[in-house]
Amino acid sequence: MSNSKVMEILGRYESDPGAIISILQDVQEAYRYLPRDVLADVSREINIPLSRILSLATFYKAFSLKPKGRHAFHVCLGTACHVRGAQLVLEKLERELGISAGETSEDLAYSLDAVRCVGCCGLAPVVMVGEEVHGKITQTKVSGLVKKYSR
Ligand code: FES
Repeated sequence: MSNSKVMEILGRYESDPGAIISILQDVQEAYRYLPRDVLADVSREINIPLSRILSLATFYKAFSLKPKGRHAFHVCLGTACHVRGAQLVLEKLERELGISAGETSEDLAYSLDAVRCVGCCGLAPVVMVGEEVHGKITQTKVSGLVKKYSR
């Protein structure tokens, strides 16, 4: 049974198979990940085999086949951030959130991922929470940051 959110997304692109990446981006934004049953709907509606869609979803790092938290923490481990202590920031976030990089908390409140350069090297080390950029984050600033997004 198709759900209306995905049908609305497909409608936006007139179920055009050439728009598959944009469709997956919109699905990811709407559901915060790519649920398998939704991908099955996409596959059926635009006539692209599910296996092909799954390999696209795995190939592009921006997509996730696992649920993400309402607050998605991304710690930049690019060179500029790395040399300014990003690894320590990541470890502190793992302790504060109680999850490891790549995981989502059981209540789906938080997810934590390491990423490569998010394009604001002047603010290193950088943590993004959703679309919000937080620069010059130190281990001591992590608790305050987590509190700001507390459940
Ligand atoms: S290396 Fe972190 S923003 Fe560029």
